[in-house]
Amino acid sequence: MFGCVREGAPPRKLTVYCSVQLEWCELLVKTYAAQTGVTVAMTRKSAGETLAQVTAERRNPRGDVWFGGTGDGHVQAAEALLTEPYVSPRVSELHDWARDPAGDGRTTGIYLGALGYTYSSDWLAKKGIPTLTRWTDLLDARLEGEVQVANPNSSGTAYTLLATWVQLFGEDHAFEFLQALDKNVNQYTQSGAAGARAAARGETGIGIVFLHDAMTEKAAGYPLELVVPEEGTGYETGCISIIHGARHLAEAKQFVDWALSKEAQELGEQAHSYQWPSNASARAPAHAVNLDAVKLINFDLKRWGQKSERARLLERWQREVREGR
Ligand code: F6P
Repeated sequence: MFGCVREGAPPRKLTVYCSVQLEWCELLVKTYAAQTGVTVAMTRKSAGETLAQVTAERRNPRGDVWFGGTGDGHVQAAEALLTEPYVSPRVSELHDWARDPAGDGRTTGIYLGALGYTYSSDWLAKKGIPTLTRWTDLLDARLEGEVQVANPNSSGTAYTLLATWVQLFGEDHAFEFLQALDKNVNQYTQSGAAGARAAARGETGIGIVFLHDAMTEKAAGYPLELVVPEEGTGYETGCISIIHGARHLAEAKQFVDWALSKEAQELGEQAHSYQWPSNASARAPAHAVNLDAVKLINFDLKRWGQKSERARLLERWQREVREGR
């Protein structure tokens, strides 16, 4: 279905903005190009950065497809009509949570992953702290300068944390906690997975991350513990969208159909990415975090992805947490 290269036809092209880990982005476009003959250009950026780029390019779109990244950015892009309605024939193969995350047919779920935090067991032993199990444990004064988390303006991981705490604790308490956490933060990184890599390599004590990103490091042999916070936690619906005004619309639709297939989704595991795939027939990665053991909140993606809420929370975070330092 995807492999036909027409003789004498002009070269087919596609530009993909990719917001998952670089290794997965590269494997994805290499495999797709080899199977179809389409020449694929790919740029890897975090979710918030990609949303900013798609917004800035709205009058002259350069990208065709946005693959991956947390659903809030895709929901906001859909609301601003920056993306194109497209219901792939493969939607019937997907889990319910992936079929229409924005409610308007402009984005589709690709994967799911839960939020938590990670630390190396050696580090905790040296700190003399017996165990960490809760979100509120991260506010402990003994953890001053020991926590790394991303900046929610650039990172979908960090925005998911912000929206999760708002839903778990109520908005005012969430901001009190974020201000208290700020005392323990050594760096607000640009990308969400950076904290997992830094905890694995001893560059930070704790990283607040998606658990699958911590699992990538653990499976590579680093002695990381993964904490599923006892209070409950949020999760992401990683999405795919076609950019409105895409120059290569037919290729973009074909790419979305392929990306939703069982075969394409199983590439994630080969690239050491361990999210739960949205295609119900796709094999879950052996290292996927067992979500039965995770108390997931009922994350309201449509609400916390809409511009009014997202922009308001980010502005409040900037004012009360970042600039209040
Ligand atoms: O690829 C890893 C991953 O955690 C995805 O699951 C997620 O959608 C994305 O990174 C978020 O990245 P960032 O926080 O940098 O926007």
